[in-house]
Amino acid sequence: MNKVFKVGLIGCGHIAETYFRGHQYFNNFKIVACADINQKAADRCAKLYNIKSTSVRSLLKDKEIEVILNLTIPQAHYSVSKKVLNAGKHVYSEKPLATQFQKGKELVNLAKRKKLYIGNAPDTFLGGGGQKARELIDSDLIGEIKLGNAIFAFPGVESFHPTPESWYRKQGGPVIDMGPYFFSTLVNLLGPAKQVQGRTLTAFKRRIYGAGPKKGKTFKVEVPTTYLATVQFHNGAIIQITISFDVINHQRNHMELYGTKGSIIVPDPNMFGGSVYISVTEGGRWGEHKTDKMQLGKINITSLSGRSNESPTNANYRSVGMSEMLYAIEKGKKHRCNGELSLHVLDIIESTMKAAITGTPQKIKTTCDKPKKFTEQEIKKLMN
Ligand SMILES: NC(=O)c1ccc[n+]([C@@H]2O[C@H](COP(=O)([O-])OP(=O)(O)OC[C@H]3O[C@@H](n4cnc5c(N)ncnc54)[C@H](O)[C@@H]3O)[C@@H](O)[C@H]2O)c1
Repeated sequence: MNKVFKVGLIGCGHIAETYFRGHQYFNNFKIVACADINQKAADRCAKLYNIKSTSVRSLLKDKEIEVILNLTIPQAHYSVSKKVLNAGKHVYSEKPLATQFQKGKELVNLAKRKKLYIGNAPDTFLGGGGQKARELIDSDLIGEIKLGNAIFAFPGVESFHPTPESWYRKQGGPVIDMGPYFFSTLVNLLGPAKQVQGRTLTAFKRRIYGAGPKKGKTFKVEVPTTYLATVQFHNGAIIQITISFDVINHQRNHMELYGTKGSIIVPDPNMFGGSVYISVTEGGRWGEHKTDKMQLGKINITSLSGRSNESPTNANYRSVGMSEMLYAIEKGKKHRCNGELSLHVLDIIESTMKAAITGTPQKIKTTCDKPKKFTEQEIKKLMN
């Protein structure tokens, strides 16, 4: 029997529901209290899940809570996580670690000094898709990966989101938003990155609210909305990545990597499931490697996005990264969604934006270990 950690939640918005669903799947945590700068949001959440709502300050003083789950907006991750660590508690935060590299570095150093764990989403690379791709690459089926490409592209959130402005302001944009999934997946498969170069463009100077009370009115776009970047990894692979809010529709695979003996199609880095495909001859068949029987690949959601390259059903086991961190705390081990990895990913994010905006290639300053494979046996220990 694993120890069941009592978790306090800060940030009671949209994604909180997914983490409460984690109680169904994982056996070593229980979210027992919540807080938000918006007291109404905290009260609503507490009522819905039958837990107590409190202020951030008293949550941090609560002695029975050892861990805080930080589900606030990206711009608040740094200040909230810093308060948590200073209060002597472990923290697991949604992505990204912080919106600026220096602040992320400060958090990782603070956790180290205080001998506390800091964990960070995304944990999607721990899913069936990410782990199956890793297993196939490590088995040398496609040889050494030399090049590849990846894409996240859609028309932006304003068609359905009533307050989309933060996606288009400073410390917003597509790389901060979706980069964590793609870069974490690439580091899981290829190891740390070394250098990046890129270009940006902004297709629309103003955007139109598509929902809510301001529907039909327009707002200003203050940051680039498309990044075309080339990331070089220490293992020699060069990957081209497109991250854009300027694409109406597309049908490309999320990620294709090309090795000396064959090619691999990696499923959606934003999700846990999906099949991996491998081909080892020119024009040859694509062998399907299903993940829907894997513990973190079993289908449990329907996707509402309707995008051409996304599956209508998928697997979503967000919170496994926190569960795995808690198990590591209990056993005194290193966790997989750790500060070193998320800081490296934040370094790639910031360097990509800087390289693309200035036109000057950027060296990635940090490195990290490739996360250890997450075996079915290890996963089983965490699951109900
Ligand atoms: N919504 C999604 O589908 C989704 C998916 C994956 C990851 N995420 C990530 O999860 C995080 C939260 O996203 P969301 O969609 O739930 O956002 P949201 O805006 O719906 O909720 C965020 C909540 O945090 C609260 N908050 C903001 N600053 C705070 C502070 N300083 N102290 C306490 N509370 C504060 C807000 O009042 C709000 O209730 C983000 O980092 C996002 O990148 C979201």
